[in-house]
Amino acid sequence: MKENVFNQEYEITKRDRCIQKNHNALVVWFTGLSSSGKSTLANELDKYLYSKGIHTYVLDGDNMRKGLNSDLLFSVEDRKENLRRIGHVASLFVDAGIVCLAAFIAPFSEDRNHLKEIIGYENFVEIFVDTPLKVCEERDVKGLYKKARKGEIKDFTGVNAPYEKPEKPDLIIDTSKESLNEAVLKIIGYINEKLQLEQ
Ligand code: ADX
Repeated sequence: MKENVFNQEYEITKRDRCIQKNHNALVVWFTGLSSSGKSTLANELDKYLYSKGIHTYVLDGDNMRKGLNSDLLFSVEDRKENLRRIGHVASLFVDAGIVCLAAFIAPFSEDRNHLKEIIGYENFVEIFVDTPLKVCEERDVKGLYKKARKGEIKDFTGVNAPYEKPEKPDLIIDTSKESLNEAVLKIIGYINEKLQLEQ
């Protein structure tokens, strides 16, 4: 089948699209436990970048699993496939000249490495939202930790499924120690230069 599929070339390039928008394109990936603050950070960063006229879009684990990935659960294989698809979607956003903010647990190093390969290391900013499990569990925004502790959810990250910490993330944020505002300023400080179009 694959040998009968061809690569179609289009003339408007990623660079053309970035020039039109006057900023570079990136994926800012938030990885961490459920209730660690990934979506809250992505939302706040999105609002800031949007207010500065930067073209953004947010991909969020919970939302994507209601649509494109509604056929997937939380086994190792399903998470791999979830992130493979999201990697390709995020890569399309970068190609379209957009700053894509992605909030997914992405608990396995191998899957995160694969994401970087799909998206391109130079386009990928990895933010480890390192809020302690205890704090995430106390927050339990969706009541899922409680269910997982009662044995009502299997493969729940941090309870009965592992989370492999990133070894060399670009940034580490602990939302139990840093305010939302401080954290967003830290991210902006890091990505600002990367958003500038190279001449
Ligand atoms: S990932 O591991 O494949 O990256 P993803 O970020 O898409 O996960 O989805 C995580 C969200 O699904 C969590 O925020 C939580 O609301 C929900 N969820 C439901 N079941 C589980 C589970 N077993 N483990 C982790 N999250 C779960």
